Amino acid sequence: MAQAASLDLAIVGGDIVDGTGASRYRGDVGVRDGRIVDIGSAASWRAAATIDARGLAVCPGFIDVHTHDDQALFDDPLLPAKVSQGVTTVIAGNCGVSLAPLVASAPPPSPLTEVADTSAFRFATFSAYLDALEAAPAAVNAACFVGHTTLRAAVMEDLSRPASQDERRAMAAKCEEALAAGAIGVSSGLFYPPAFAAPAEEVTALVTLAARVGGVYAAHIRDESDGVEEAIDEAVAIARAAGAPLVISHHKVSGARNFGRSRATLAKIAHAATCHCVGFDVYPYAASSTMLNEKSWSAATKTLITWSQPHPEFAGVELSVAAAQLGLSEREALAALSPGGGVYFMMDEDDVRRILSASAAMIGSDGVPNNVRPHPRLWGSFTRVLGHYVRDVKLFSFEEAVRRMTGLPASQFRLRDRGVLAPGAIADITIVDPQTVADRATFAEPTLPSSGIAHVIVRGTPIWTGGASTGARPGAVIRRAAA
Ligand code: ZN
Ligand code: CU
Repeated sequence: MAQAASLDLAIVGGDIVDGTGASRYRGDVGVRDGRIVDIGSAASWRAAATIDARGLAVCPGFIDVHTHDDQALFDDPLLPAKVSQGVTTVIAGNCGVSLAPLVASAPPPSPLTEVADTSAFRFATFSAYLDALEAAPAAVNAACFVGHTTLRAAVMEDLSRPASQDERRAMAAKCEEALAAGAIGVSSGLFYPPAFAAPAEEVTALVTLAARVGGVYAAHIRDESDGVEEAIDEAVAIARAAGAPLVISHHKVSGARNFGRSRATLAKIAHAATCHCVGFDVYPYAASSTMLNEKSWSAATKTLITWSQPHPEFAGVELSVAAAQLGLSEREALAALSPGGGVYFMMDEDDVRRILSASAAMIGSDGVPNNVRPHPRLWGSFTRVLGHYVRDVKLFSFEEAVRRMTGLPASQFRLRDRGVLAPGAIADITIVDPQTVADRATFAEPTLPSSGIAHVIVRGTPIWTGGASTGARPGAVIRRAAA
């Protein structure tokens, strides 16, 4: 390094966990103008500010690859749920649901309503959405998918059928606008009612547009229960036909009948990955969460209500209890409480561990920020992996966990200059105490911040220190890098 130039920030005495999976080593990190300019010894450095990182792990900032923070970036720009677990970049617009491009005059169908209120769907173009994000920056960086379901809702009256030729053309035009504006790819949520009637070809047409400009395809597959393997085949077929890298969202196998089936699904994904770029993300819990719906409820042994528009008083209550109080069956109560959301206890812990342990597994929280009583994954996914699964259960090494939260997602989602600690990289940095890092959010108390995250830095600016937000909002909108 040119020693003469002074640094904005020096992080000294920590263990460097660089995001590649390499073993940690002792080193100091120098930051100037939002980038890492040196990793080495601070002995001769001059810096405007210094962070003492002795006893701590200095990591690239965590990338939450699966979020629904599209509107939360405006409503709650300090994003404490994410920043308190070390996240510096969120990827929004998942599961086919993006905030743009859609102007809603009436409530859009679930799961769009899960992500934002009707009035929040106010962007006719994706470029207007990204410009608004840039004009009101958040603490963290954001990269955004354009959602197939949002495109359907923007051009179709009746979502219970395949799109017509004219509607496909209209979706394609809006999708191209989104990609040109900087959407990082296309997401779909064929599981959900407003997209379930779409044949694979309808999605392939949009993903093809993304592939042409270097975009990625993220799929909440059509079935994560009895038909999970066929649904993976469908997603892989779409990605291959289009020529786009595939990320299978929140990979899981649901329902007691399917416990153990992750052996087959992981083998299938690994096989597909031998001839096509296929990745997946996972959250570290054996319960899922989404809109109230019969498919999820019927696969679950227990359902917890996260919110209900007609009956807000039942947020946090078990469905069986709410149903008894309403004098209804659980099935009837689902309808009476909708629109609303639930946590579904529907997975096997061994499957969760097997999926987490796969070396291709990235971490995505899939948290839904505007739920009254959210799934604890919103506040605890990253720290639960590092504390519970890495330090306590010893599923894999700390360095490997950090790679799946940083270097791996940066390459899968094509986020340039992020995800590793190296000279020239953008200075998104998370400093963790490996001895104390832990999630504290539980199903009973789902919004408790994590412990053990000492400092979080975005583009060289501290956004979290001493257990609290600094108030700074240096987050960038990450527009898809030109192909
Ligand atoms: Zn999803
Ligand atoms: Cu999702």
